[in-house]
Amino acid sequence: MFVSLLGTLGCLTLPDELRPEESDQLLCVPGGQPPLWKFMDSIRSEGLQQGEEALSCPEEGLPRPSDSSELVQDCLQQFKVTVAQLQQIQASLLGSMEQALRGQASPVPAVRMLPTYVGSTPHGTEQGDFVVLELGATGASLRVLWVTLTGIEGHRVEPRSQEFVIPQDVMLGTGQQLFDFAAHCLSEFLDAQPVSKQGLQLGFSFSFPCHQTGLDRSTLISWTKGFRCSGVEGQDVVQLLRDAIQRQGAYNIDVVAVVNDTVGTMMGCELGARPCEVGLVVDTGTNVCYMEEARDVAVLDEDRGRVCVSVEWGSFSDDGALGPVLTTFDHTLDHESLNPGAQRFEKMIGGLYLGELVRLVLAHLTRRGVLFRGCPSPALLSQGSVLLEHVAEMEDPSAGAARVHAILQDLGLSPEASDVELVQRVCAAVCTRAAQLCAAALAAVLSRLQHSREQQTLQVAVATGGRVCERHPRFCSILQGTVMLLAPECDVSFIPSADGGGRGVAMVTAVAARLAAHRRLLEETLAPFRLNHDQLAAVQAQMREAMAKGLRGEASSLRMLPTYVRATPDGSERGDFLALDLGGTNFRVLLLFDHIVDCIVDFQQKQGLSGQSLPLGFTFSFPCKQLGLDQGILLNWTKGFNASDCEGQDVVSLLREAITRRQAVELNVVAIVNDTVGTMMSCGYEDPRCEIGLIVGTGTNACYMEELRNVAGVPGDSGHMCINMEWGAFGDDGSLDTLSTCFDASVDQASINPGKQRFEKMISGMYLGEIVRHILLHLTSLGVLFRGQQTQRLQTRDIFKTKFLSEIESDSLALRQVRAILEDLGLPLTSDDTLMVLEVCQAVSQRAAQLCGAGVAAVAEKIRENRGLEELAVSVGVDGTLYKLHPHFSSLVAATVRELAPRCAVTFLQSEDGSGKGAALVTAVACRLAQSTRV
Ligand code: G6P
Ligand code: BGC
Ligand code: BGC
Repeated sequence: MFVSLLGTLGCLTLPDELRPEESDQLLCVPGGQPPLWKFMDSIRSEGLQQGEEALSCPEEGLPRPSDSSELVQDCLQQFKVTVAQLQQIQASLLGSMEQALRGQASPVPAVRMLPTYVGSTPHGTEQGDFVVLELGATGASLRVLWVTLTGIEGHRVEPRSQEFVIPQDVMLGTGQQLFDFAAHCLSEFLDAQPVSKQGLQLGFSFSFPCHQTGLDRSTLISWTKGFRCSGVEGQDVVQLLRDAIQRQGAYNIDVVAVVNDTVGTMMGCELGARPCEVGLVVDTGTNVCYMEEARDVAVLDEDRGRVCVSVEWGSFSDDGALGPVLTTFDHTLDHESLNPGAQRFEKMIGGLYLGELVRLVLAHLTRRGVLFRGCPSPALLSQGSVLLEHVAEMEDPSAGAARVHAILQDLGLSPEASDVELVQRVCAAVCTRAAQLCAAALAAVLSRLQHSREQQTLQVAVATGGRVCERHPRFCSILQGTVMLLAPECDVSFIPSADGGGRGVAMVTAVAARLAAHRRLLEETLAPFRLNHDQLAAVQAQMREAMAKGLRGEASSLRMLPTYVRATPDGSERGDFLALDLGGTNFRVLLLFDHIVDCIVDFQQKQGLSGQSLPLGFTFSFPCKQLGLDQGILLNWTKGFNASDCEGQDVVSLLREAITRRQAVELNVVAIVNDTVGTMMSCGYEDPRCEIGLIVGTGTNACYMEELRNVAGVPGDSGHMCINMEWGAFGDDGSLDTLSTCFDASVDQASINPGKQRFEKMISGMYLGEIVRHILLHLTSLGVLFRGQQTQRLQTRDIFKTKFLSEIESDSLALRQVRAILEDLGLPLTSDDTLMVLEVCQAVSQRAAQLCGAGVAAVAEKIRENRGLEELAVSVGVDGTLYKLHPHFSSLVAATVRELAPRCAVTFLQSEDGSGKGAALVTAVACRLAQSTRV
């Protein structure tokens, strides 16, 4: 009789001759559930002792004890919970929740408050076909669903689904067995569906406490509810599932999202008048999720919007609050469970445990002779034999005595009329307490919501799911009544989930799939910016070739201009000199030479130098053809400068003419110096090995000490000369075209010198922000960023300053500060956008630094080879706002140089006071030489 009942419930294996004392086989719960309890031979509890007693039970039974009504009273009284106790639980749980939100660790796991990466409740516009795999929601079964989202409100397509029983050895076996089983079930389900085997998108409902680090990354913290597969705790369950699907090999399935059952329940809730922001599940286990303010979740670096948090209240275990309501039966149940000491709250509420609590009470009362004339059956003494379904039916007042009688008989008992009535009372007591405790916990969540929303009356919908909620009308009505009592300021409507949360999982999957598609588009867009070793080595080689040609005076994009600086400083240079510095960010406003002279006069007056004739060194940071130290013909403007009538002129003469026009001053222009040269010289004053000058600022360029014999057009075969490479123009002959992206082309086309300074336009500060802006425009047009909305601001040229790249990429900034910078630019960001913009900035600045590094490697190698050295130690004097302000630029340059020029030990020295000091040094050397020739 008993066995046949289990048979109808779909139990897997149950030996006919089952006797608790001689079997290690566990009994089952509906859906063919395997062992949710420890093996019988490990049971130390009253179960076995009773079993022994039971065997000695006389045929006619024992007389009912005289104090039976007190015994019943005592027993049932234990399950009574007062309103004060419920309030205390509510307050304590709320405290635990807030503590966990603040990230304060507590010694015992109270509630976990796990962020889920679900940031908004459904829009109703989600659409597509999705496979959903549910594991852990309903006891020992696994469900696969095919869900179609139409994207049209009110238009539903019923999901197709299939349930599979997980064999007992799988539930307690290895993780690989479990996930292989899941993959097998997936294939079996899909085989029966008229669907393609390719490109399937899967949402994984995995209902155990997990640390999520993304929509598709989730590490199992610990098993609950009778699962105990080895090798899974601490692992990413999505990866385990992916591996298993791959091993199975039958279908190409993309696991897009992982979701707790509470989240699926909340997300699948019908859109109603009020927001559904809470998902409650009471099934085998119990838990809740709700929409929390992101700024209050300490582990998230987020100050805006909301995020769904899985409370994992099953592990709530405050001794102070729970202690008074724990019964001896709770202790026994915990002791005999697979996870003693854990999930104490869940064990008073979850469906896996309610039947067992009832069984323990019934066994106890039987042992005392109060029930069944003191004669228990083997089933009554066997763990897991009283099922949730039994309890539900027996406590349902409409079930009638006959039904209760039948159930008890199926359990091998011989109930009398009074037994039936008492059993009903026991069931009611256990379930009432469960519903009340669940209500106290839910009231805590609602209080939290109300508090964080700062609302007088919170209007909210709670989506409910799980078999306890669905099939126990009394549980639901007690739950609702108690919530009203404990959280009177909340106006709550309860909405039962229509299809066990499958739709909700599909909703999350749809969002995750969209985000994954966006990520792919982002990766595709940025791929051309990610240069590999071979590409960088090719740049280095091309640079070497262009240098050689330029030096020989052949056609080359590198002009390799002699500077007439023949030596780096020796440290003995002394005297007063004036330095004038034009060409970086700080002089951008100076366009006329007369104005420059005004500035000098003003400076001299302020310094008390008026009337003195000082030698002047002029840093002029543009390409000039020099015929001597004090003669420089401007070849062309760069970096956005465009003053008329200067190109082709000697800028020293222009300056001298302006001085003459402004008769008040006497200035002796001794040298014109490129900023790279000034920087090399000023660093060379400190370090004699400094033979390279590098600028990465508004523009970019390098100079270095070349053997004079290699420099065509300058007489002399011995000694050195500093060469201004003007490397910004590298690639103007098309040699960089294979690396150049469509964004580089757009920036070039919109510049005032299209086709010119191609290397500079991939590296320097004047252009990086523009490259980023063009990429952002493209990503917006693809719908990847800013919800696809083009903003006026982003269309504005130069809105994205290169200094923003430095700020955005600064490690000390939290993502929220990055967003503040972007919002200041008027960009309508979501948090996903912020991360993507950051990645765009990183890709662009990394390429710039690597290209710059390839250039420095070419120069260092050239010097090494010039000197026939195996190893070269050389220093580079560097200046420029991008190099100095960007958090990672300098280290990326250095890393690239190490990679491409392994035989050169290159040290980078940052110039402290610009190239002015260097210009003065050049001037000093020139004056000294002039004097000695005069002598
Ligand atoms: C130097 C100079 C400037 C030069 C600059 C680069 O030290 O003295 O003349 O052009 O740094 O600066 P930037 O403003 O372009 O970053
Ligand atoms: C799990 C939760 C789950 C709940 C309901 C608990 O045991 O830890 O993640 O939501 O059961 O299925
Ligand atoms: C100029 C160079 C200068 C560099 C750095 C380039 O645009 O052509 O002469 O050295 O910018 O300022």
